[in-house]
Amino acid sequence: MIIIIDFGSQYNQLIARRVRECRVYCRIEPPDITVARLRELNPDGIILSGGPSSIYEKKSPKADPAIFELGIPVLGICYGMQFLVHVMGGSVKQSPKREYGFAQLEVTRDNELFKGIDSPLQCWMSHGDSISALPRGYSPLAKTANTPIAAIANTEQRIFGLQFHPEVEHTPAGKKMLKNFLFDICECKRSWTMKSFADEAVERIRATAGDKQVILGLSGGVDSSVTAILIHKAIGDRLTCIFVDNGLLRKNEATRLKKIFARHLHLNIRFVNASDAFLAALSGVTDPEKKRKIIGKIFMDVFEAEAKKIKGARFLAQGTLYPDIIESQSTFGGPSSVIKSHHNVGGLPKKMKLKLIEPLKFLFKDEVRALGKALGMPDELIWRQPFPGPGLGIRIIGEITKKRLLVLRNVDSILLEEIKAAGYYRKLWQSFAVLLPLKSVGVMGDKRTYENIAAIRAVTSRDAMTADWARLPHKLLASISGRIINEVTGVNRVVYDISSKPPGTIEWE
Ligand code: XMP
Repeated sequence: MIIIIDFGSQYNQLIARRVRECRVYCRIEPPDITVARLRELNPDGIILSGGPSSIYEKKSPKADPAIFELGIPVLGICYGMQFLVHVMGGSVKQSPKREYGFAQLEVTRDNELFKGIDSPLQCWMSHGDSISALPRGYSPLAKTANTPIAAIANTEQRIFGLQFHPEVEHTPAGKKMLKNFLFDICECKRSWTMKSFADEAVERIRATAGDKQVILGLSGGVDSSVTAILIHKAIGDRLTCIFVDNGLLRKNEATRLKKIFARHLHLNIRFVNASDAFLAALSGVTDPEKKRKIIGKIFMDVFEAEAKKIKGARFLAQGTLYPDIIESQSTFGGPSSVIKSHHNVGGLPKKMKLKLIEPLKFLFKDEVRALGKALGMPDELIWRQPFPGPGLGIRIIGEITKKRLLVLRNVDSILLEEIKAAGYYRKLWQSFAVLLPLKSVGVMGDKRTYENIAAIRAVTSRDAMTADWARLPHKLLASISGRIINEVTGVNRVVYDISSKPPGTIEWE
């Protein structure tokens, strides 16, 4: 097992994820974890994370220096390395320039940490302070143009430090460094699996929920479905799922989901068809934020009314993932502005005085899919592309009417058929259609047409925080466009969205 000591870096969960990818169990602990507790946990290695502070700030987080005397290998990353240098008697000083971004790293001394890695290599830096003098027993291992001491080791005591971030993708050899640390230096075994994660999560849910009732908003997406299965495993029918049909779902979606749920998830589900309430409230509304707020508010009202019928409910379970937390937290990079009011059930727990259970909150999407697989979920649930809570409501630009919903549903359904047939569904983060509030002139069978324009959006992404437009083959785009224009009454032009995020967003509203 590896313990990651959390000095506040936004990359902590990424370190944990990298360790899990190597099939090694890890836990994130606060800096004030006691040495006695560490002894009890008896990890094979300790990773000191980065953090936003400077070691000389009064309130900067510090761990007990006695951790370096446990005989357990330690890897300090960024602030973690500065902390270790500081307590071991070296010195850290403020650099005149903050170093942020790519840097070329030159390895200057052979070391186990860099075994199998060619120098020079690219690394990702993000720091204000630098090491100016090393403690006794430590040697420098690598440098960059701006950072003469970019990696250090006390080989005898098995203590290492890296000024850059090995956990991010921008340090391509970082995974290899972490592997060297885990397997050669700490001698960890590859024994952790998603199945072990599931077992542990189930235990934790059982302990938290006790004999109380839990409610969950089931959307049919992979996150809420996996959450439901975990909780069901833990507490059985004391979990009640609520599925709200907001009238903004894809073609045949409600029926399809009901079938999948009945076949594969033997859960206690209440279906609420609230389409009329949503569509009535949205009538005449064109402003994207207003639409989102209305959809969010009605969802809350409908959900709350249904949840009230469940006696003794104390907990609300949500399939929040780690990137959702990062995107909505302002501690990382200052107060972030609201780009879109994401409609999840964020306001519900407060309003209904429920406590949250979020068993996936430290996982990334691909890990949730792996977890779903370990739980025996069928591929058709695991591999569903994400679908936003406000549904087609934010994909019909302008006013949402029943007629326009019908047009978009037909366009969207052809698009999905084509994407699936071409084997692209799983390769794309999302692929969907948007109905524009514009008409254009066309000619069909020698007749003038004046009809709607549909835009196609297909993106690749790892976690939706950034995304690139998919380079779909022209042949596929041609068959998508050909079929839509021929088969959907009311559309005579199809365009393809070639914007990335940032500066675009994935959804249009
Ligand atoms: P944007 O458009 O912000 O979307 O780039 C990022 C990801 O989030 C999804 N999305 C939502 N999901 N409620 C959700 O549950 C929402 O209100 C919402 N808005 C956007 C979007 O589909 C993409 O995957």
